[in-house]
Amino acid sequence: MSGQRKRTVVLISGRGSNMMALVEGARAADCTYEVAAVISNRPDAAGLAWASEQGLATAVVDHRQFATRATFDSALAETISGSGAELIALAGFMRILGADFVGRWHGRMLNIHPSLLPSFKGLDTHQQALDAGVKITGCTVHFVTAEMDAGPIIAQAAVPVAEGDTAESLAARILAAEHRVYPMALRLVAGGQAVLRDGRVVHSSGVNQGDVLFSPSDG
Ligand code: GRF
Repeated sequence: MSGQRKRTVVLISGRGSNMMALVEGARAADCTYEVAAVISNRPDAAGLAWASEQGLATAVVDHRQFATRATFDSALAETISGSGAELIALAGFMRILGADFVGRWHGRMLNIHPSLLPSFKGLDTHQQALDAGVKITGCTVHFVTAEMDAGPIIAQAAVPVAEGDTAESLAARILAAEHRVYPMALRLVAGGQAVLRDGRVVHSSGVNQGDVLFSPSDG
């Protein structure tokens, strides 16, 4: 079905483990998306080397080369459109994109965040969860809107907090869930089974709820 797969550009800034999970997910014969390119704002992002080894197209749009966010955003937009992208997946992309850019990709740009939104937005989400004493946290795949970490939720995975967890141990447990939920959520969006309607994501009736909200111990 490769002709019909939605061309997706993955934006990274660092290690890129979620990007790797998206690439691995696209190997499934029935996958609804393909990774058209991996783009980083940092030339030294570890994930870039891995992506080129896989034979994927890669590009760097180094934010330090641009005086303003607007000029960075337009260079990025140009690189993305050069790849024929239909969807964008942010995967540990550490730049805030301007409202114009975000508006142009409304309903077509996804992000993964390591908490159960709307709890624990922003950075240091694992420490925020530990400080709050929650017993369950997790990760969220959502559409990107101008307000950070506030876009319509596509899928979430619940992850238990263990006694004695540190931010690092909790992050590792959540990351394993991220690697499952992100490819699954992107598949749903690319396949038209998760659609944005009136500011919320609606799943078509065939979608298995266990795919959209799960605990890692299930799998
Ligand atoms: C992940 O925890 C993701 O949820 C957050 O940044 C981290 C990126 O990790 N947005 P990786 O680069 O995908 O390994």
